[in-house]
Amino acid sequence: MSQSIAVIKGDGIGPEIMDATLRVLDALDCGLTYQHIDAGLGALEKHGTLIPQASLDAIEKYGIALKGPLTTPIGKGFSSINVQLRRHFDLYANVRPAISFPGTRSRYDDIDMITVRENTEGAYLSDGQEMIDDGDTGISVIKVTRKGSERIVRYAFELAKNNGRKKVTAVHKANIIKTSSGLFLDVAREIAKEYPEIEFQEMIVDNACMQLVMNPHQFDVVVTTNLFGDILSDLCAGLVGGLGLAPGANIGEKAAIFEAVHGSAPDIEGKNIANPCALLLAAAQMLDHLGMNDKGDAIRLGIRTVLETRRDMVTPDMGGTGTTDSFAQALVEYVQS
Ligand code: NAI
Ligand code: MG
Repeated sequence: MSQSIAVIKGDGIGPEIMDATLRVLDALDCGLTYQHIDAGLGALEKHGTLIPQASLDAIEKYGIALKGPLTTPIGKGFSSINVQLRRHFDLYANVRPAISFPGTRSRYDDIDMITVRENTEGAYLSDGQEMIDDGDTGISVIKVTRKGSERIVRYAFELAKNNGRKKVTAVHKANIIKTSSGLFLDVAREIAKEYPEIEFQEMIVDNACMQLVMNPHQFDVVVTTNLFGDILSDLCAGLVGGLGLAPGANIGEKAAIFEAVHGSAPDIEGKNIANPCALLLAAAQMLDHLGMNDKGDAIRLGIRTVLETRRDMVTPDMGGTGTTDSFAQALVEYVQS
């Protein structure tokens, strides 16, 4: 049976890395049908809006989107499309694996962990939601709900259970931010009792930052609220060599959007040197989500193999002498062999 997915090529390097990614998906014979939809600068020129209603409808209809990076125009009163999509579809779980690959500039070569960030509440509320800014005083509200905490912590435990992972660490600041972070921690403790087979650890966020840098191997799945998750997941990307290899999934009950963590990189647009790995790894997460874990694994193993053995085909940011196209070509040859 063919599964349709919405595809947003994106701005800047988006079309280049999306073409590379779709080539590899085609070579894997995933049985996917691509429904290309407009968003970002292209949509703004054509339709006068960054995310047309027809595109939202398509994501709703297919339930799955693979998304290239989008440029949000600065200073023109536009709000981030990524934030709009998260809110519109209530994509409450931001899931970011951090896995070491060979040949990267990083401190460690054997990291394998996942951060699960609450994506809809915490300190990132929509404009005008209970904030004060009178020019002299700025007050922002942190909102944590039992429902929001339950679903994100449960998501983290289910992810651990279904992927043979052994431990979930809840990161918090309940000692100081007693109301909101305290509620999150209370809920995490309650949910943890439902999963006796998985080790539960709690850690205060500042200590977690130090532990991640000093001794990252102790972590397996990390679950936390929105602001801490935003920061910690980038820290984890840094542990495995930066944004070129960092994918992310935004998952809700009715839709899931898979994307690279990096932006549209206008400085290298059109040069055929953009690294397609982050979007490819996002596509691998999408295949896992669709129950095609073997094909997701093939992408991950392919990237590992090509980085190790085909430096001539790899993009310059990874120290290679190849192009976006040659990287994709090497992966296509790998999956077909
Ligand atoms: P960026 O991630 O686009 O670029 C930062 C640096 O990393 C640049 O030097 C770029 O050349 C390099 N880089 C990024 N991805 C790369 C890749 N795949 N291969 C090789 N080098 C790569 O961040 P920046 O410059 O802050 O933002 C540019 C635009 O992207 C902005 O309009 C921003 O709003 C948007 N953006 C969109 C995101 C999304 O759609 N998820 C996320 C972050 C930024
Ligand atoms: Mg961020």
